[in-house]
Amino acid sequence: MLRVEQLSHSFKNGNESTVVLQEISFHVNKGEMIALLGSSGSGKSTLLNLMAGLMKPTEGNIYIAGHNIVSMNENQLAEFRRKHIGFIFQAYELIANLTVRENVELPLVFQSINPALRKHKALALLEQVGIPDKAELYPSQLSGGQQQRVSIARSLITEPSVIFADEPTGNLDTKTEEEIIMILKRLNQTMDTTFIIVTHEREVADHTQKIITLRDGYLVTDQGPAAEPILIGGIHSES
Ligand SMILES: Nc1ncnc2c1ncn2[C@@H]1O[C@H](COP(=O)(O)OP(=O)(O)O)[C@@H](O)[C@H]1O
Ligand SMILES: [Mg+2]
Repeated sequence: MLRVEQLSHSFKNGNESTVVLQEISFHVNKGEMIALLGSSGSGKSTLLNLMAGLMKPTEGNIYIAGHNIVSMNENQLAEFRRKHIGFIFQAYELIANLTVRENVELPLVFQSINPALRKHKALALLEQVGIPDKAELYPSQLSGGQQQRVSIARSLITEPSVIFADEPTGNLDTKTEEEIIMILKRLNQTMDTTFIIVTHEREVADHTQKIITLRDGYLVTDQGPAAEPILIGGIHSES
């Protein structure tokens, strides 16, 4: 479903070049929910943005549903993203002057889908994320947790193959965080959509089927809560 091969990335500032990701390889099966865990600055967002096709890696390949997104041009990539990729942001990124329902419908406005069907799909998703009664309110009238539910519904409306979420509970209190994770888990089970969730919190990662840990731009294998991480791609393993 998703395969990352020998991915490396550096940011260039004039003559300076900072290596952020080094020879990352892993794969994710269709319908899996995985966590990308690592402390701040470990390269999680960079990896997520590369996988979502928002920028090109310095080296390596990324296959999604059999297509190498690294070799696509801008137009192909934009089209591919619209069809196959959903994104959930830490700060929700809802449009303030659109209603909740209009926000959820938005990704479909760019496709030629009739307004009645669009509305029907949006309302069904708002039901799924537990806020059917908020459809005609504006984002500012909602709590943070409710806004993230809207953002989750929006990410699903195009029925993407994979959803990338960058610290989706980063702005939420512990109780709301738990609720949002449970919603993501349930959607993952019922909709067969692959979820990649970036987090710096072990408690969030422990809810997923598989954890991929990043440390200073390197991938660390991680079999579960009790396992000791082993550094891959580096020269030593941790004891
Ligand atoms: N656009 C950029 N230009 C230069 N350095 C960047 C840029 N984006 C991120 N970095 C650096 O890359 C490293 C990893 O950042 P990031 O992927 O955002 O980590 P995380 O999401 O795990 O906190 C950090 O050292 C950060 O400063
Ligand atoms: Mg980040």
